[in-house]
Amino acid sequence: LTEYFTLSNDVQIHKLGFGTWQIPDGDDTYNSVTTALKLGYRHIDTARAYENEASVGRAVRDSGIPRDQIFITTKLPAEVKDYDQARATFEESSSLLDLGHVDLYLIHAPWPWAEQGKDYSEGNIAVWTAMEELYEAGRVRSIGVSNFSVADLESLTASTRIRPQVNQIRWFIGNTQDETTAYCEANDILVEGYSPLATGAILDNPQVRKIAEQYGKTVAQVCIRYLLEKDVLPLPKSTTPSRIAENADVDFVLKPEDVTFLDGLTDTTA
Ligand code: A2P
Repeated sequence: LTEYFTLSNDVQIHKLGFGTWQIPDGDDTYNSVTTALKLGYRHIDTARAYENEASVGRAVRDSGIPRDQIFITTKLPAEVKDYDQARATFEESSSLLDLGHVDLYLIHAPWPWAEQGKDYSEGNIAVWTAMEELYEAGRVRSIGVSNFSVADLESLTASTRIRPQVNQIRWFIGNTQDETTAYCEANDILVEGYSPLATGAILDNPQVRKIAEQYGKTVAQVCIRYLLEKDVLPLPKSTTPSRIAENADVDFVLKPEDVTFLDGLTDTTA
């Protein structure tokens, strides 16, 4: 919780973040984020589309923790592919969070959710221009993308000035997105992994359990540790205080042969 990755622009980002996808706004988000902050998490990941930014912001403000000790990520909705709308939508997120600057602002996806896979290169370049301006104005400390493939990254970076500092993708044992991950690593783009527990679907996997038992750890802890072994930033989500604590207790090292074994697993959510 106190270790950092360093982004390509030298901004430091806490190695373990707290994901808030699918946590309802109001008390659920407020209480989970409050618990996470009490347990030592200092990196909270939200999005306009999660509709819980206001509760995230309130929990951070009420925590009394100095703003500069907390890292806040939010995201521009996938449907927004227009410069003016991007600027206006950022202002909405900014005022809902009410935390001053945003630490990391991401394009939520390369295409609107209803049109997955379609080519929105032009729209992504338009909104990226807005994000570059927010970055240069100091409204956001770093900028990046989410759910981008290598082709999406290449078409964006070919026509824009600032390279994304982060790509947040769905990443867990058995779903390691090797091509995108290698491309990001080669281009100094930090990979963040959302759903490191496959939204819970991996937790009954007998092979991961076997490894977990050898270390006296839970399956969730091995899943999160695996991302850290790969220099991928895990963003586990939970609304259960004991699990929020468990997911942060990952200060152990997986042996190389166990990492190799986990590398070979496929269909981990079957
Ligand atoms: P809950 O929020 O009810 O505690 P992911 O991070 O991959 O999106 O997974 C989130 C899902 O996994 C949620 O359903 C969450 O349930 C569950 N979960 C999170 N941490 C743990 C844990 N340590 N043990 C078991 N289930 C967990």
